[in-house]
Amino acid sequence: METGGPVPPQWQDIMSDVLVGSTHISARNAELAATLASDYAGLNPVLIVVLKGAFMFATDLSRALSIPHELEFIRASSYSGTGSTGTVVIHGLEHAKLAGRHVLVVEDIVDTGLTLSHIYARLKDAGAKSVKCIALLEKDTALRLKEVPSVDYIAFRIPDKFVVGYGLDFDQRWRHIPFVGVYKK
Ligand code: IMP
Repeated sequence: METGGPVPPQWQDIMSDVLVGSTHISARNAELAATLASDYAGLNPVLIVVLKGAFMFATDLSRALSIPHELEFIRASSYSGTGSTGTVVIHGLEHAKLAGRHVLVVEDIVDTGLTLSHIYARLKDAGAKSVKCIALLEKDTALRLKEVPSVDYIAFRIPDKFVVGYGLDFDQRWRHIPFVGVYKK
């Protein structure tokens, strides 16, 4: 499945375009894993996977990452349908032991940045030694909030369109599609 290629027939009612194909995703994951392996060598980082959207990206990235690392999973809920509610609830950090650890937040997509800001605020309180973020997608949007932490590693920058697939949903559907496409509203 190539970027810009035709949408496979079974997804043509759901997606108008393939934005990032699975071949590109795999190649980029391998590149990013090599960068992380070098940047975090000897540091035994903790990857904080932001569910549900980052599950597929984090799984592939973790498998490709050749250095020892640990995984924690948190839930951040901020969306209902295609619009942000403006509130973010985070669950799962309460049991993670992060004091003195090098933490890497694994996000599906950074849109307004509201979710990431809330997560960073919670991680600061947890006493992490370093906090960085890797995101599958960064959306080019005028709605990005000011003072959002910068994303340290970005797999793909995409235009301001609502996308589904490779973990991303519309009302909990289409996360399982193995590539990222523009959602047909
Ligand atoms: P932010 O807080 O506005 O940066 O939004 C982050 C969250 O909104 C992401 O983790 C996604 O779960 C969701 N989101 C933002 N844009 C999209 C999209 O295009 N498709 C699916 N989910 C999205």
